[in-house]
Amino acid sequence: MIPCVRKHVISIIKGDGIGPEVIEATEMVMGAVQQKFSLEFEKIYVEAGLETYKKYGTNLPESSLKLIRQSECLLKGPTTTLEESGSELGVPVKIRKIFDLYANLRPVRTLPRAKALHGNVDVLIVRENTEGMYSGIESEIAPGIGIGIRLSTEKGARRIFDLAFKKARDRRKMVALGHKANVLKVTDGIYKRVFEEVSKLYPDIRTSEEHIDALAMRVALSPQSYDVIVLENLYGDIISDLAAGIAGGLGLAPSANIGDKFAMFEPVHGSAPDIAGKKIANPIASILSFSMCLDWLGEREASKAVESSVIKTLEKGEMLTPDLGGNASTFDLAGAIAEEVLNL
Ligand code: NAD
Ligand code: IPM
Ligand code: MN
Repeated sequence: MIPCVRKHVISIIKGDGIGPEVIEATEMVMGAVQQKFSLEFEKIYVEAGLETYKKYGTNLPESSLKLIRQSECLLKGPTTTLEESGSELGVPVKIRKIFDLYANLRPVRTLPRAKALHGNVDVLIVRENTEGMYSGIESEIAPGIGIGIRLSTEKGARRIFDLAFKKARDRRKMVALGHKANVLKVTDGIYKRVFEEVSKLYPDIRTSEEHIDALAMRVALSPQSYDVIVLENLYGDIISDLAAGIAGGLGLAPSANIGDKFAMFEPVHGSAPDIAGKKIANPIASILSFSMCLDWLGEREASKAVESSVIKTLEKGEMLTPDLGGNASTFDLAGAIAEEVLNL
């Protein structure tokens, strides 16, 4: 009997720098998943990023958005963002806003072979993804004097806390909020007040609140003491790189940008210009982002298979990229993971 094939339409941005390398490596694992689980992925390639800007004068043309809208979800490689005053917002920030992808889930775990500063880390950072300083509303009101808008809404706070508490229910039932309401009394004050309100709806979850600076220290010293950490946008950006560094580096850190109707999956890391083109970038952050994508698509078995294949490959330790202490290439490591998927 011919097995029934389930089809998913996924748009793909390869991105800049190491983006095309880690995405092409991830596509090797996608191929193995297709074969093993009778799935079919229809891929829609989408232009976005610095190279696209050089070609069209914008990093995310309308034609790209149209293609993304034809897909169920987006797999994105890192894109380079210009820093000049007046330049466009970065591609991920734009997509998060346009598709209202309000939650950025950034799980951080110590994986086998990782050059981690602490063992047994298993934290889920839930980063608010559409508010804070990332509104992009900034101006130079007089020569040498810049101001920026830090957007903070009760609606934005409520929906991110609600999700963080729901996630904690499937984990170790703890949620920590990091804020700086002692200084940012209005903007972080709203988040603190709404956190306390939402926490009353989840009496089974233990909560804690810390000033973000103190939280950063505790994450560095005892990351094992956290389960879910919920943070506004900028704090979440910084603490997720910090936690990834503690657990063995950005090459291992995946993310899911989730909204009510659409989602984008991307590694936490950037385009890494220092190692681009050398085929030494670790593809695992991108491959685990694809695993999160499969989970979101309802393909739980395939998602778990990718995750366990990553772990098995690391445990074997035969194919490790330089950040993991080996000398394998991006594609050697991805090939070994794809092989594990097929051999499950
Ligand atoms: P980065 O994450 O690109 O690099 C930081 C360090 O981590 C570098 O030393 C790099 O070599 C290393 N690293 C990153 N990914 C790695 C991997 N897969 N394997 C091994 N080592 C890895 O951060 P950056 O240098 O601050 O940013 C570079 C560019 O990327 C900037 O233009 C920035 O705006 C952009 N960026 C994009 C995204 C995104 O598209 N989601 C995210 C972060 C940064
Ligand atoms: C991330 C990145 C982006 C962010 C940049 C590239 C705009 O650092 O996804 O963490 O700050 O959100
Ligand atoms: Mn970041």
